[in-house]
Amino acid sequence: MNTMEGTVPIHMEGVGKAFRQGFWMHAREAVRDVSFSVPEGSLFGYLGHNGAGKTTTIKMLLGLIAPSRGQVRVWGGSPADPVVRRRVGYLPEQPYFYDYLTAREFLDFHADLCGLTGDSRRRRIALMFDWVDLAGAEDVALNRFSKGMLQRIGLAQALIGDPELVILDEPMSGLDPAGRKRVRDIMVELKARGRTVFFSTHVLADAETVCDQVAILVQGRVRSVGPLTELLKPKVTEVEIVAQAPDGYQAPQGRVVHRDGRLHLTLAEADSGPALRHLLDAGGRVLSVTPHRETLETLFMNELTAVERAG
Ligand SMILES: Nc1ncnc2c1ncn2[C@@H]1O[C@H](COP(=O)(O)OP(=O)(O)OP(=O)(O)O)[C@@H](O)[C@H]1O
Ligand SMILES: [Mg+2]
Repeated sequence: MNTMEGTVPIHMEGVGKAFRQGFWMHAREAVRDVSFSVPEGSLFGYLGHNGAGKTTTIKMLLGLIAPSRGQVRVWGGSPADPVVRRRVGYLPEQPYFYDYLTAREFLDFHADLCGLTGDSRRRRIALMFDWVDLAGAEDVALNRFSKGMLQRIGLAQALIGDPELVILDEPMSGLDPAGRKRVRDIMVELKARGRTVFFSTHVLADAETVCDQVAILVQGRVRSVGPLTELLKPKVTEVEIVAQAPDGYQAPQGRVVHRDGRLHLTLAEADSGPALRHLLDAGGRVLSVTPHRETLETLFMNELTAVERAG
């Protein structure tokens, strides 16, 4: 293992996974030629619609299934290597719980697996209950937990050993808005502590506010990958000006809509300065100027449409 490679939490190169399905056992590729790296200390969002191949990718990252082709490296090693695994915390998409255990017994069991003992074990468990807002529910049996509570205790389980790399498969699923926010805050906190977080989601709003890097997966292929600022920034193209314009005012350029007695003028960012001057010179009153940034939603939809068009 070279030292450079050893510091990269996740590296995938030309990874594909085919499943044999149906009576004839035809191979179908769930993941195709996926390549990306997750830098240390980043909060990385793996975005894709249902069936895009997110969980399949994550299972390969954990060494639970083997890729059909390509290379998967975690901390420079094989994800199946126990030394590598010890550095990884994982929240599965559908966690399996031992129903008859209480929440504390469940975390205690996992703390034990992580080699925690004595006081530090007790402190870590108490901290986890606090972190995921389950303080007070320590002695409740898991079969009495709500869906949202199960999701939270699953997250606590993933974090109990203070792993350097945290892999979360749809960590916000089943949570209400407050719960989603808490999970986002926890991920940001983990990053602030120097941990690397890789999570999958099909809810773009959950990624947009917290991720510093994303990969967009469409039908098993990574279509866009990189820092959100780079993926979205070059596409700040239009500006919308809302104004009260004098009767009969003719804008020299842009698309004009009159609504509620106001002029809405949408035009290229470069033309916005001259347009504002023209409007003010004509005696208009500017109410707002809003740059139309491309959102993750539009980027995602564009990628999806491009794939569908290509057939
Ligand atoms: N063990 C398997 N055998 C056959 N096909 C599979 C298997 N696991 C996954 N697939 C197929 O691979 C594709 C990708 O599935 P995957 O679970 O990775 O998607 P996903 O992005 O996690 O979706 P979701 O958002 O619904 O969780 C799907 O078409 C699925 O049916
Ligand atoms: Mg999935």
